[in-house]
Amino acid sequence: MSWASSGGPGRMAGGGAVVARAPAKVNLHLAVGPLREDGYHELRTVYLAVSLFDTVTVRPGAGLTVTVTGEGAAGSGTDAVPTDRRNLVWQAAELLAERAGVPADADITIDKSIPAAAGLAGGSADAAAALVALDALWGTHATRGELGALAARLGSDVPFSLVGGVALGSGRGEQLSPVLARRRWDLVLGISGEGLSTPTVYAELDRLRAEGRVPDGEVHPSPDPVIAALRSGPVRALASSLANDLQPPALSLRPDLRRALRAATGAGAAAAIVSGSGPTVAALAPDEAAAVRMAATLAGEGVYRTVRAVHGPVPGARLVG
Ligand code: C5P
Repeated sequence: MSWASSGGPGRMAGGGAVVARAPAKVNLHLAVGPLREDGYHELRTVYLAVSLFDTVTVRPGAGLTVTVTGEGAAGSGTDAVPTDRRNLVWQAAELLAERAGVPADADITIDKSIPAAAGLAGGSADAAAALVALDALWGTHATRGELGALAARLGSDVPFSLVGGVALGSGRGEQLSPVLARRRWDLVLGISGEGLSTPTVYAELDRLRAEGRVPDGEVHPSPDPVIAALRSGPVRALASSLANDLQPPALSLRPDLRRALRAATGAGAAAAIVSGSGPTVAALAPDEAAAVRMAATLAGEGVYRTVRAVHGPVPGARLVG
């Protein structure tokens, strides 16, 4: 790698701080293949980046510190986000520093709006934003391709959090090709109080398949209808092609999600699916006004802890300010 690690600090906000933000994602199509020898499943997925963002602020420091505010901060009553090496942001900082040959010195604050363990790739968004912010703080001048390679080492969804927009993901989700979306799509996210662990949901899928209760991993529905609908479609074309192989295991682990899905369609969604490994419900709205109405209705019903009207596609991790 030929990084200019002597380039000096990049773009900075006040007080030597650099700020970046990255979006949540939903999977409009998620076909899960068989379990691989490395413990991952081969995927075919269509990612959409949506307008719910985490913000990462980095400042010069001695060694690493990570502070979390907002959703999932310690004491907020939801799944607490770790502030040590278990946090993907910490791992992102160490990896970038090691590859660029600079000391891993930074005080990092993650301001979370994306709930943890929700199927929205919140931790991946934080890692992607941290890579972009620390690259600027440390003046490491990594190319987008180099950051993408580090992102893939951090987690399956981190490369997508970096690029954003709409993309087809393969491999374990980290191999991306862009997908054209000609219009804005409006969705409502119904977020539950209690998270679901991604490995647990994949393991439940393996169990259901072993028992013959869901089709096995050799059956790969094609993402083509979703891709065609994104390119040119009316909402109903996208609505009828949404698919998620992780929905049956998420429902098996959390039967209350059936009610959450029904509530979304009852409130006017064109279609509703579990987002990624769940438990967030992603409800496709006919348009922006309908999304706002649906969000108000669903918030009033109290089925979810939090309801957010969002739209996509939006860009991936980038500096702000
Ligand atoms: O890549 P990441 O660390 O986000 O994955 C978390 C876990 O989700 C993996 O350890 C694995 O259990 C599961 N997973 C999988 N197949 C994928 C992606 C994730 O089985 N393609």
